[in-house]
Amino acid sequence: MTSIAAVGENYQKFNPRAYLQNNYMPPRADFSSEDCAVPWKLRCLAEAFATGEIGGKTLIDIGSGPTIYQLLSACDHFEEIIVTDYLEVNRQVLRRWLQDEPGGFDWSPYLKHACSLEGKGEHWREKERKLREKTKHVLPIDIHQPKPLWSSQVQEPADTLVSAFCLEASSPDMESFQRALANVTTLLKPGGHFLMIGALEESYYLAGEAKLLVVPVTEADVKETFLQNGYRICQFRTYVMPPSLKIGVDDVRGIFFVNAQKCEHE
Ligand SMILES: C[S@@+](CC[C@H](N)C(=O)[O-])C[C@H]1O[C@@H](n2cnc3c(N)ncnc32)[C@H](O)[C@@H]1O
Repeated sequence: MTSIAAVGENYQKFNPRAYLQNNYMPPRADFSSEDCAVPWKLRCLAEAFATGEIGGKTLIDIGSGPTIYQLLSACDHFEEIIVTDYLEVNRQVLRRWLQDEPGGFDWSPYLKHACSLEGKGEHWREKERKLREKTKHVLPIDIHQPKPLWSSQVQEPADTLVSAFCLEASSPDMESFQRALANVTTLLKPGGHFLMIGALEESYYLAGEAKLLVVPVTEADVKETFLQNGYRICQFRTYVMPPSLKIGVDDVRGIFFVNAQKCEHE
């Protein structure tokens, strides 16, 4: 049995560069194929925001890691975006991107693809500028604490939460996954939406020297956890990982996308 503390300790070996290489470069990020994993994730997010039903003052991204793709279609719909991660190395990668420091990961194919999906004729450089401008804080977070964000910079619950591959990848078992959702739900206003992307039936992934254990979750587990935490599920989509994308960096079977709304009376 692995404990939450042991998971946290293991994350100290997480290598952001290796993680980006494994998951956010070809073959997983092949923009010439809509059936590829990364374009699928961007499409889920673009379509959810295109409904016009999700927006407000603040969006919090839970466990951003070293990535920003999950915010590309969100940035038009909020005044302020807060990115968060457990690890200082990842928060540093995020701050460097926000400050446009040289030598960082090249997100331009993602920005171009998101602009093309949205079909509003926006130039990718404009989206990049807007996302940098709206991202006001890079904060530490621990989803296993009853109060996951302890910063005084967050005064009130957010209008929307986004989280990608964080809860299952930071929880040693189903019980902690369920409790983590309860903890982060305190950061969301009643009536607000939670857009979550995650791994289906994955038990580990690699990020350089680190082998991170993941609690394997099914579609039914994810739906039940949201319902138990007082959400209404607006949309649930799944992606089956094709054999060509099984490249030895994890044992993920598929990806889920859920758009859930926190009920007003909770
Ligand atoms: C698989 S990565 C996901 C990164 C990014 N969101 C993405 O979509 O690729 C898991 C992330 O969870 C973060 N994490 C680990 N333990 C955590 C905890 N207790 N609370 C919040 N985040 C945690 C890690 O630092 C890492 O950035």
